[in-house]
Amino acid sequence: MDFDLAHTEQQHVYDLLCGLVAPRPIAWITSIDPSGKIDAAPFSAYNYVGTDPPIIAIGIGDKPGPGALAKKTALNIRSAGEFVINVVNAAGADAMNLTAIDFPPEIDKLDVAKLKTEASLLVKVPRIASAPASLECREITTLQIGHNRIVLAQVVAIHIKDEFIDAAGPFVRADALHAIGRMNGLGAYIRTAGAFFDIPRLDYPAWKAIYERLDPGPANQKTLGLVMKNHARQASSPVSAARRSDP
Ligand SMILES: Cc1cc2nc3c(=O)[nH]c(=O)nc-3n(C[C@H](O)[C@H](O)[C@H](O)COP(=O)(O)O)c2cc1C
Repeated sequence: MDFDLAHTEQQHVYDLLCGLVAPRPIAWITSIDPSGKIDAAPFSAYNYVGTDPPIIAIGIGDKPGPGALAKKTALNIRSAGEFVINVVNAAGADAMNLTAIDFPPEIDKLDVAKLKTEASLLVKVPRIASAPASLECREITTLQIGHNRIVLAQVVAIHIKDEFIDAAGPFVRADALHAIGRMNGLGAYIRTAGAFFDIPRLDYPAWKAIYERLDPGPANQKTLGLVMKNHARQASSPVSAARRSDP
């Protein structure tokens, strides 16, 4: 099927995009309002978009309804200029889900979800104490495009629990951290525990050396798959994968 999105219902656009841009990491954001009240909410329109300097982007949609009804997180980021992204693992999934509820203002989400916070290193917004890791962020800008508020922010500090870091790198022990990801639509997630696999990265000389050694075979075909199968697989470890940078 083909979809021209200028002529596709908004709900279908959402369903198609969320089904195809998946799995997505989840930014479990803590933010602070001008009275000092802490808010928490998850956002999966999220990724890092640069490392030098370290920049992340988050898409916060307006609440449904007439006009531009900003979510609390978007308002808080604008007013405080700072926030924290807490990483969500399987252990934190239920509490994260509770913080997605649009509670009336008199209800404290952190109380409902039984979440404790801890002071951050550089920003005034605290992190979620039970989260495996947290990224402290300063807003660079918020772009308003239609009903989206797209926050671009610089990560200024990272906190990670000792059991999830290999200090030798330092490398994140993603195989122990068990981050969860969001799949399409409401309520669909993916676990990462036990789901890792490695595909060795080749540079051109390594690829060429393997390719030239390959027997062309009866069909006289040398395929990419053959090259990869003939490449000595490195130890299948997510930590070893983390050691290679992405040129
Ligand atoms: C896993 C998950 C991911 C979500 N991702 C987004 C998102 O990317 N953008 C968005 O606007 N809302 C997203 N939401 C919905 C918000 O979390 C929800 O609207 C929340 O009530 C906002 O809270 P706030 O008003 O305190 O900021 C997501 C909800 C869940 C459960």
